[in-house]
Amino acid sequence: MNKEKYLVTSALPYANGPLHIGHVAGAYLPADIFVRFQKLLGNDVIYVCGTDEFGAPISIKAESEGVSPREIVDRYHKSIKESFDGLGIEFDNFSGTAREPHKKLAQEFFTNLHDRGFVTQKTTQQWFDTEKQRFLADRYVEGDCPHCGAAGARGDQCDACGKLIDAVTLKNPVSKISGSQPVIKETSHWYLNLPKFESELKAWLSTKTFWKDNVLNFINNFLHDGLLERAITRDTDWGVPVPLENAEGKVLYVWFDAPIGYISSTIEWAEKIGQPERWKDYWLDPKTKLIHFIGKDNIIFHTIFFPSFLMEQDKKYVLPHDVPANEFLNLEGRKMSTSKNWTVWVNDFLQYFDGEYLRYYLASNAPETKDSDFYWKEFQLAVNSDLANILGNLANRVFAFSKKYFAGSIKRPVKLSDLSKKVLKEAYDLTEEVKSCYQTYQVRKVTKLCIDIARSGNKYFDETQPWKAVKTEPEKAAETLYVCAELLRLVSVVFFPVIPKRIKKLRQLLSIKAEFQWDDIDEKIDEYQIGEIAPLFRKIEDSEIQVQLDMLKKGNEELPKPEHKPLISYEDFAKLEFRIVKILEADNIPKSKKLLKLKVDVGNGEERSVVAGISEYYKPAEMIGKKVPMLINLQPRTVMGVESQAMILAAHDEGKLTILVPEKEVNEGSEVS
Ligand code: MF3
Ligand code: ZN
Repeated sequence: MNKEKYLVTSALPYANGPLHIGHVAGAYLPADIFVRFQKLLGNDVIYVCGTDEFGAPISIKAESEGVSPREIVDRYHKSIKESFDGLGIEFDNFSGTAREPHKKLAQEFFTNLHDRGFVTQKTTQQWFDTEKQRFLADRYVEGDCPHCGAAGARGDQCDACGKLIDAVTLKNPVSKISGSQPVIKETSHWYLNLPKFESELKAWLSTKTFWKDNVLNFINNFLHDGLLERAITRDTDWGVPVPLENAEGKVLYVWFDAPIGYISSTIEWAEKIGQPERWKDYWLDPKTKLIHFIGKDNIIFHTIFFPSFLMEQDKKYVLPHDVPANEFLNLEGRKMSTSKNWTVWVNDFLQYFDGEYLRYYLASNAPETKDSDFYWKEFQLAVNSDLANILGNLANRVFAFSKKYFAGSIKRPVKLSDLSKKVLKEAYDLTEEVKSCYQTYQVRKVTKLCIDIARSGNKYFDETQPWKAVKTEPEKAAETLYVCAELLRLVSVVFFPVIPKRIKKLRQLLSIKAEFQWDDIDEKIDEYQIGEIAPLFRKIEDSEIQVQLDMLKKGNEELPKPEHKPLISYEDFAKLEFRIVKILEADNIPKSKKLLKLKVDVGNGEERSVVAGISEYYKPAEMIGKKVPMLINLQPRTVMGVESQAMILAAHDEGKLTILVPEKEVNEGSEVS
């Protein structure tokens, strides 16, 4: 067979947070399934990825936590890798863009483009945060989209309309680091001269008539607006330094260096397997089919920007063969949002359910041509009805029946009935259809067809009634078992890319070889030997789904934003006199449910009486002897006949009062400020 060569990539996830199901559905699961399928075909394929470790998403996260970007990157690289492992997403290499060899390679790319005259330095205007004394690149500034007016558009892109944004055109800009309104200031940057690539890009793209409609539409819209020069450098310190003199404080734009990460990850892979030149077999061989799996927000970067970097290098790199971008996954009818915690984190999911259940549900519900929705109830249904009740049931019936009546032996009959032949023929035809769906990234249809094969087995089992036949014509019952075992075997080949772990188990239960290829569909099995019996799938209870729904709602409850009072000056503040006072006496005030009467020492033996509204939370006895801060220069007030000459401080937590106490022993009279 003529082997094909594939180089498959999935968008490098930003190392600024854990992996969630939206990532998985868009860029990773479809790729992993495709790669496993190609490996089954015996094609030469490698699958590379890594974390995207530079850029604003990382430094914003680091700043918000007060830690170094390195720490953020290390933490989430590890977390993301664990999620992938738990889901059986198997990369040949998983790297990270903050590694030295990657930085060198990204610089080499920049230098090549620069030397060939595709990069020009220009003075420009940019948002500047006067409070923090910093330029606000990309996501550091948010405002209203200049194209569609949506609020919350970032400095580089608008999520509402998907358009790229020239940051200075944002309306009502707000700095993400200080919350203040930035000003425009001059800086200088290096621009990629995209118009210079226009004709070559267009000629190349015109050969891509087979790309998905959603991808072509996006590109056409983008080209329609005309290509503009784009800045590929930024003013920040977390990034790949611009490899030029006089470029201090300038780094490469994260979208410049990140896709080059696909190459550096491949180089790392080649080194790890001890064949450092092997990466060239993929990147520099025109026969390689380079396929980028991404979400729709990454289309332009993979079909316009990255190809243009690749075109003007001193090596002749392959350009993407295909970019099967997916749409988005929503959750329970709402747009997913990590900031609002409206998502399902993979590591959390894996604490409750098998990763292959997620693989199955997300594959059967993949956002291939339009956005799709994750519903916990649908997830349960997919697992219980498709996997457990259809595929699992067919397997159980065959296993249990053969054990009971045939000592676990299922032999190939000499002759098959017309019905048996028809059932088998239809199943073979379905496997052909599954194959072409894999080739065209239609994993929704793949899962449906695989389950259909199992479904036909159940129907056939019911029709042939082996439980009756076994008493009168045992060879008929044996034939039913054989045909059903064959169907299970076919499923075990074609369904493998979707749920590999379960399928391995199925093959083990059927006593057929663990290592196999797609062509083993035609394998002739004379006898299946059923040994141990185990259910393939566990059903998910309603209560388990309720737990998830409750957690989702709870995590998402929007906290009411505190209303802030107007700012006061320092002088205003300095007028307040707070001191630690010692409570000498405490009594209930007759007829009052809320008030306690206190006698306190405010220092140097100066005593005052205080009325405090805390008697619902504190008994007089527990107050005596406590030292607490009070405001002691508040004008006295008489409450229920008692003059109050100071005010106690307490935290109001959902209506509940908690008094404050110093963290260490302090003398009464100590001033508090
Ligand atoms: N980190 C980007 C995102 O999550 C994707 C980068 S893809 C690459 O949107 F090509 F640049 F690597
Ligand atoms: Zn917009």
